[in-house]
Amino acid sequence: MRILSGIQPSGKLHLGNYFGMMRPALQLQEKGDVFLFIANYHALTTVGNPALLKQGTLDVAIDFLACGLDPDRTVFFRQSDVPEVHELAWLLSTVTPVGLLERCHSYKDKLAKGFAPSHGLFAYPVLMAADILIYQSNVVPVGRDQKQHVEVSRDIAIKFNNQFGSVFTIPEPAIADEVAVVPGLDGQKMSKSYGNMIELFGDLDETRKRIMKIVTDSTPLEEPKDPDTSTIFALYKLFVGEAERNAMAARYRAGGMGYGHAKKALFEAFEAAFAPFRKRRVELAADPGRVAEILRTGADKARAEARKTLDRAREAVGLV
Ligand code: ADP
Ligand code: TRP
Repeated sequence: MRILSGIQPSGKLHLGNYFGMMRPALQLQEKGDVFLFIANYHALTTVGNPALLKQGTLDVAIDFLACGLDPDRTVFFRQSDVPEVHELAWLLSTVTPVGLLERCHSYKDKLAKGFAPSHGLFAYPVLMAADILIYQSNVVPVGRDQKQHVEVSRDIAIKFNNQFGSVFTIPEPAIADEVAVVPGLDGQKMSKSYGNMIELFGDLDETRKRIMKIVTDSTPLEEPKDPDTSTIFALYKLFVGEAERNAMAARYRAGGMGYGHAKKALFEAFEAAFAPFRKRRVELAADPGRVAEILRTGADKARAEARKTLDRAREAVGLV
């Protein structure tokens, strides 16, 4: 089973990225053949600053490795080291209806946020389809907001296969239901564009302060509280096992526990989970040569796979 996912290097990674995409993808390292890449071509649609893009790419590489990506098992690479995806994206674009792209929420959201409607933003899902299809991916672990893009990739693959013969594996999105949308400090979806995030590797004191700022209702300390409507609980349960989750839910329902206590427990759970990653991150950041070497090795493997699919697609459409 080929599992593939990508992430844009367009800002600091946060808990939404970790629980929505990174952890599910890293867990799949045990189950199949995982390809993970840093989508720097995609990031060009919104990041117009070369120094930022470079630094962001290195940071994402280090973050992923620190969080448990095993380079001996997983093919880890930069999207731009496999330029073959662009040729495939062109072939795919010739069978992609404009209407399919016009319906993409992410495109409409970007315009609503004030980004200029560039061709790159519009064609973003076609490049994403090429990323997925070029590696014959079966499963694509992503957060819920990327589900539509994976469905577009499926539609494009089916259309191409019907017209030119069976070249592509039809991919499936894999959405971890329980963590489909990780809430941010204000209860909305955690996202770098809402400024409501908890960074994976932010300054610890700052992180504690941010957790203490999570918005709550004004139920008095002594009163029972509903864990199911609490942002603090929604985040806490992502870090702990079932027993601790049930114990915390019971403390909510019993009353006598203030939200401040729950926030403290959340910070402690965060710290316990991320302390080992933080330590590894320091070691990796001190050895950029090793990180570069890992990405180079990954790119060689990815490129060899990509070439095989591209050759088949070229042949199928009559270019060879
Ligand atoms: P952002 O919303 O901060 O810009 P991205 O769009 O770059 O994040 O998302 C990268 C990956 O992380 C995608 O797979 C996305 O679905 C996932 N993801 C981002 N935010 C969340 C969230 N709040 N909950 C679940 N998954 C998320
Ligand atoms: N669009 C994805 C995001 O913003 C990143 C991405 C690019 C991706 N290509 C991909 C994810 C292929 C999965 C598969 O998060």
